[in-house]
Amino acid sequence: MSLTGPVHRPRRLRTTPRMRRLVAETRLHAADLVVPLFVKEGIDEPVPISSMPGQVQHTEATLADAVTAAGRAGVGGVMLFGIPAVRDAEGSAGTDPDGILQRGLRTAREAVAAVERETGRPGPVVMADTCLDEFTDHGHCGVLAADGTVDNDATLERYAAMAVVQARAGAEVVAPSGMMDGQVAVIREALDGAGFTDVSILAYSAKYASAFYGPFREAVDSALSGDRRTYQMDAANSREGLREADLDLAEGADVVMVKPAGTSLDVLRDVADRSDVPVAAYQVSGEYAMIEAAAANGWIDRRGAVLESVLAIKRAGADLILTYWALEIADWLG
Ligand code: PBG
Repeated sequence: MSLTGPVHRPRRLRTTPRMRRLVAETRLHAADLVVPLFVKEGIDEPVPISSMPGQVQHTEATLADAVTAAGRAGVGGVMLFGIPAVRDAEGSAGTDPDGILQRGLRTAREAVAAVERETGRPGPVVMADTCLDEFTDHGHCGVLAADGTVDNDATLERYAAMAVVQARAGAEVVAPSGMMDGQVAVIREALDGAGFTDVSILAYSAKYASAFYGPFREAVDSALSGDRRTYQMDAANSREGLREADLDLAEGADVVMVKPAGTSLDVLRDVADRSDVPVAAYQVSGEYAMIEAAAANGWIDRRGAVLESVLAIKRAGADLILTYWALEIADWLG
């Protein structure tokens, strides 16, 4: 009996670049990408972040340049983090109408308006991190109770005030990242009460306590000693992540997010399958640092690894992806 060969030949669809392009199920678009940007008070020059090669703490002027560049590249959004000159126990700078994050938001909105006039296309959506850790002298994401634990309900009041101040400064999206129970509901109520019914909430819903946030702590000069395990989730749990996403959806989240992306692709897929709102994923600082470090050593193909890592996040179900490579990827995509 002669060998006739396999009946099914999946390799047929991989024969040429044009065939592979034709049948690709997942594609990256610049418009799906959001670039996180750091703006620091009281500096005259941008400060490089050593554990995130290529990323900097911006001055207000270079923040405007970065937003403009994002707009020219067609990037979908910018997520702003502020680093204040002075910190205190309540994170007062986070709710100061003239605090660094609020100034950054106004600057970003002006840059977006300018780049839209220049290009005739939509610029990036301006988003704000709504969390206290950059503003507190102890580095936790909330205010502390007398026993030193993070006080959930007292923190909610701070988040509500913060979201309103951010909206007033021009945030189109506020992004509560502190993992306090009930944060989406109180922020929605506060925004609506202040007349900001059109400001969206991107909820960090399934956010894990992760070693991969390490470089971010340098990026925001974090004062934290200890960890965030009483509010961020244990990496052992997926069901809990779905519950968090369901609660945020019920509380009115406009977008739900899973983070870190690369170590939570299973959770991302499950959240995407049950969510009726767009799903975001955050490729965090440590994911960025790992690929940059390996590439700098010549151990990995940088561009290939960057694109594959982001494509995998999209394939797992993310509609939008926060990534520090957003501008570079947008340029590659042309
Ligand atoms: C909290 C916040 C963090 C990140 C985004 N928002 C730090 C943390 O939870 O410890 C991490 C992002 C990254 O690592 O890239 N404001």
